[in-house]
Amino acid sequence: MSEGEGWEREEVVGLLSEARARTLLLIAPLSPEDLRIQHSPLMSPIVWDLGHIAHFEEVWLLTRAGRSSGEASEGLAGTFNPFENPRNTRGQLELPCRGEALEYLARVRRSVLDRLDELAPDPSDPLLRAGYVLRLVLQHEYQHNETILQTLQLKRGEPYPAPRSIALPHPGPAWRERAGEMVRCPGGRVEVGTNDRSVAYDNERPRHDVELAPFLIDVAPVTNGEYLAFIEAGGYVDRAFWSDAGWAWLQDEAVEAPASWRREGEGRWSIRSMDRREELRPLDPVCHVSYHEACAYARYADKRLPTELEWEAAATWDFERGEKLHFPWGERAPEPTLANVDQVSFQTAPLGSYPSNVSPIGCYGMIGDVWEWTSSDFEGYPGFESFPYPEYSEVFFGSEQKVLRGGSWATRAGALRSTFRNWDFPARRQIFAGFRCAKDTER
Ligand code: AVJ
Ligand code: FE
Repeated sequence: MSEGEGWEREEVVGLLSEARARTLLLIAPLSPEDLRIQHSPLMSPIVWDLGHIAHFEEVWLLTRAGRSSGEASEGLAGTFNPFENPRNTRGQLELPCRGEALEYLARVRRSVLDRLDELAPDPSDPLLRAGYVLRLVLQHEYQHNETILQTLQLKRGEPYPAPRSIALPHPGPAWRERAGEMVRCPGGRVEVGTNDRSVAYDNERPRHDVELAPFLIDVAPVTNGEYLAFIEAGGYVDRAFWSDAGWAWLQDEAVEAPASWRREGEGRWSIRSMDRREELRPLDPVCHVSYHEACAYARYADKRLPTELEWEAAATWDFERGEKLHFPWGERAPEPTLANVDQVSFQTAPLGSYPSNVSPIGCYGMIGDVWEWTSSDFEGYPGFESFPYPEYSEVFFGSEQKVLRGGSWATRAGALRSTFRNWDFPARRQIFAGFRCAKDTER
């Protein structure tokens, strides 16, 4: 769908089927048992995600936006409401079996397609305007795809046989010398956020001006090699690197490396992404670190995390022209040739793999590979208005959650925007999250 006011039936049908095909592809290798059990208290049983995808589509496309009464969802209505059932309790719910969940998905989808005309764009209704509610539902399925992949990375038992469909590019060695390199961002007045009403979430609006002091920012995300040097410098034992909250976290968790790293011997580590365990690749962005670990690394490097506004300026602001780009590289929609996105690689890629994935000031890899922790609390922008429901963003605002930007290899292309704000608790490591650092500068 273009960002114009209208949409073509065929295009919508194509997008909806493509989203569903991906969901089904991801779960195809899983046994009924793997779908049913709760692999981690942080994550839902995967069959819950499936039912919840169907339920969300039913609520928004049949009941709310379709205006006529939605089909009854056979007593399952409460089960898939995330607010009635917190994640760590979802393993105890009476959940459908694989066949029932797939049937629920298919049944809702058939009704949606039968009644697609009721969702025709209507400029006077903000839900129907420019196809908003359709994109809401599409993006919701995309996002739960990433949630499912987080679960699969934490999966108990046999590792998930990832349906990889591309081999990663092999970059030249040039990046070895560039570790830790920073670029100067001149600051001044920049525009952040968006006024888009066709796809963006409420928390990305409105577009507004901010005044930034000049700062330095890493030209690339922090790599496994750099992070290993931090570990070897006593990163996980030296109190001086950690904030009070970070140190408390470390005492509780008693970890010595990012999640998915395994010590293989003196100074040797392997890293697992789904069913592939490989010797640590020093030029890949570090992944599965908490906000606390990111902050500790930054302190060790005599840097800090960027604020989300600094991040967005570094990703999208063209300082020469005083213009905001949609993506670091310009206007083209993200796809796997431009950046490590859309779940086809099933792992991080070495720096230098995507030479066009660069912003006007020279920051690489801001879209894709790993979400990047920022120092910002998740709060509403000035003039924020909740839409279409406070449970999407507003109920999460506050100082408990930190913002992550940029998307990961596990993010579907249709859910990637440089204004997109993800959030999670600073203690969490199940996200495909890394970070880059920033630093104040006088000049
Ligand atoms: C934006 C990833 C934080 O998982 O809570 C899924 C996305 N919202 N269903 C989340 C979402 C509703 C959301 N995050
Ligand atoms: Fe959801």
